[in-house]
Amino acid sequence: MWPRRASTKTTTDLPEAAGGTPAGQQPAASTDIPASTDTAAVASAPGIGSGPPSSTTVGEPSGRRQRRRSLLPSYPPPGYLGQLDPAFQQALARTRSQADLEDLVWYHTVELPDGTVLPGAWDLRGREAAYLGGVELAGRRVLELGPASGYLTFHMERQGAQVVAFDVGFDVAVDLLPVAGVEDPNEKALVMTGTIDRNHDAWWYLHRTFGSSAAFVQGDIYDLPADLGTFDVTVAGALLLHLRDPWGALRQAARRTTGCIVVTEPLQDDLAPPDSNIMRFSPSAEEHISNWWSIYPGAVVAMLRRLGFADTEVTFHRQRHHLGHDLSVEAVEQPMYTVVGRRP
Ligand SMILES: C[S@@+](CC[C@H](N)C(=O)[O-])C[C@H]1O[C@@H](n2cnc3c(N)ncnc32)[C@H](O)[C@@H]1O
Repeated sequence: MWPRRASTKTTTDLPEAAGGTPAGQQPAASTDIPASTDTAAVASAPGIGSGPPSSTTVGEPSGRRQRRRSLLPSYPPPGYLGQLDPAFQQALARTRSQADLEDLVWYHTVELPDGTVLPGAWDLRGREAAYLGGVELAGRRVLELGPASGYLTFHMERQGAQVVAFDVGFDVAVDLLPVAGVEDPNEKALVMTGTIDRNHDAWWYLHRTFGSSAAFVQGDIYDLPADLGTFDVTVAGALLLHLRDPWGALRQAARRTTGCIVVTEPLQDDLAPPDSNIMRFSPSAEEHISNWWSIYPGAVVAMLRRLGFADTEVTFHRQRHHLGHDLSVEAVEQPMYTVVGRRP
């Protein structure tokens, strides 16, 4: 669901977030990956900006274009542990506040408290409850897998949830489809630094702006950090189609979820009845190197039931989406579905 090349346009200047960044207001209007500046982290918490660099799956691309470096170091804290420590989160917040506002990439359209609307590829406003399967969020501890720029994180928090957002990072990159069996580390690095990491900067911008207490944790979705604890609700929105192993990720989620798992996916086409138990290998759109699967609701239901979430409910909705993340084309009403699986 992200384009081969990061491309987003913001037509609105960003107000400085509360708690602030020295970057100030910038007219952000570039498409594609902006030519970059090095905004490497200056960090102080354990695991951030200290320790030895290790080999990384997110290599530095050689010379295709310049871009700013990730604000995170490429090596994780040992075992990816300790990230929920308030001191770690505070240091991460400080580091992320150094992002240039013009570098942020908005996956979601977001309305700030002062009424400023930041346009993004997906506009979930007003339809959040449908996207999240109508689950009760007040007082719940929620694990959000793959938050991108965080619209849902802060929406859920406003509903009274305590949210831990989890995404790739450190030495773990997104799963990109190899081309003719060949993995391209440069492509991976480009997606990570050009899009994913900038989504994360946007997440932190909103965190500052909304005065959030949500936490942000990074690592391997197929081996979630052991110290995350358990959650009442786990949310996987528009995520499974991007994973080489959706079952592996759901299995990890199931181990940590005491109440319900919410899975939202696009309905890719209508070639089969939606309740079909089909997960079709589907690297269809050439523009996308991260779309692996067309997953039908029936397949999600079957996986959740197998994992012990036997009480399942499927709902359908539409969400506004700028295809190819191109904000200059009119948004379409993308058909989506949400499966809520509950433990009996
Ligand atoms: C298409 S966005 C969905 C954003 C949000 N969940 C929503 O529904 O609006 C996919 C998110 O999943 C994350 N993601 C992709 N591959 C991942 C992986 N292997 N492990 C963890 N997160 C991943 C991306 O970084 C991004 O935050």
